[in-house]
Amino acid sequence: MLHRLLGLLGYDLAIDLGTANTLVSVVGEGLVVNEPSIVAVAEGTSRILSGGCAIGHLAKQMQGRTPQSIEVVRPLGDGVIRDFELCEAMLRYFMRKAHRPGLARPRVLVAVPGGITPVERRAVFNSTQRAGAREVLVVPEAKAAAIGSGLPIAEPVASMICDIGGGTTEVAVLSLGEIVASQSVRTAGDAMDRALVDYLRRHYNLRVGTSEAERLRIEIGSAYPLEQELVGEVRGVDAIGRLPRKATITSEEVRESLAEPLGRIVEAIKHTLDRCSTDLVSDLADNGLVLAGGGALLPGLDRWLSEQTGLPTRLCGDPLTAVARGTHVCLEHFDRWRGALRSGDEDL
Ligand SMILES: Nc1ncnc2c1ncn2[C@@H]1O[C@H](COP(=O)(O)OP(=O)(O)OP(=O)(O)O)[C@@H](O)[C@H]1O
Ligand SMILES: [Mg+2]
Repeated sequence: MLHRLLGLLGYDLAIDLGTANTLVSVVGEGLVVNEPSIVAVAEGTSRILSGGCAIGHLAKQMQGRTPQSIEVVRPLGDGVIRDFELCEAMLRYFMRKAHRPGLARPRVLVAVPGGITPVERRAVFNSTQRAGAREVLVVPEAKAAAIGSGLPIAEPVASMICDIGGGTTEVAVLSLGEIVASQSVRTAGDAMDRALVDYLRRHYNLRVGTSEAERLRIEIGSAYPLEQELVGEVRGVDAIGRLPRKATITSEEVRESLAEPLGRIVEAIKHTLDRCSTDLVSDLADNGLVLAGGGALLPGLDRWLSEQTGLPTRLCGDPLTAVARGTHVCLEHFDRWRGALRSGDEDL
């Protein structure tokens, strides 16, 4: 009864708390925050710069151009909270941007990775609650991505989603509103960047930062041979002479460097298929695999995965906002999706 009353007086927020990007939407309005999950602090402290406002876009502008006294950090890694204090500060800052005048604090639904441990889920719950939520609910990212991609998950046919973010790849087969089989692996965009950093060190004796590797990957990376292969320039530091140096890299080389992380994503998809009944797998032969998340924007990934898995594969519309859209839908139609949501502190 109290919950219902507060529901009438308060507002609802859907949050995709991602390793790379955080998106917040207000139910009844839509997306109000879409910013990088990063914070700029004074080196060796948790003091956020610019009077506590060097978060998200503002912190991104500082990245790579900071004096030694400033550190740009990501409070999340591999899809889960790594720095509790900074994550809470970041959430509070974003939730304040989404604040709507009301008598009650917001009810918040957060999308979380399927492989999250109880301790990690507790961290999401605590950070969100301390950042100002009156009630915290969680939904698996894969389910949110499937709903956000418009898959008919409530129907008695199998749908398959693969959400490739910055920290994790979430693979799931859904039917009748439930996840039938799933796998969450801590291999996604960041792992691709680390693989490229490794490649450049081994083949070019060049030490490159992960954001420079990400820039190169987005510029010329691909999963499938390109019609017109590309060439890009990368800046780093010579591993031996320790002086700044540039190197020219081809798109074939970038693709070669991504083979290992991409292989792990294929394994996750195959492993998920292995745990489905033949009826479900035969549904998927028709309905195919749908890709979401920013990592899915790697050119040729749909075609390459289709060859590797034998499933027709396509990208959903606007992959970067699929989880946020699905989380928003769950809250908007709360009574319909209530069964899919869990209280953030359940089982703890
Ligand atoms: N055009 C692009 N081409 C290739 N990759 C891209 C592109 N745009 C963004 N990305 C990658 O998408 C990733 C971020 O995607 P997304 O915002 O879905 O992740 P996230 O939700 O924050 O992370 P997670 O779900 O793992 O916690 C980054 O690794 C980024 O490099
Ligand atoms: Mg994500």
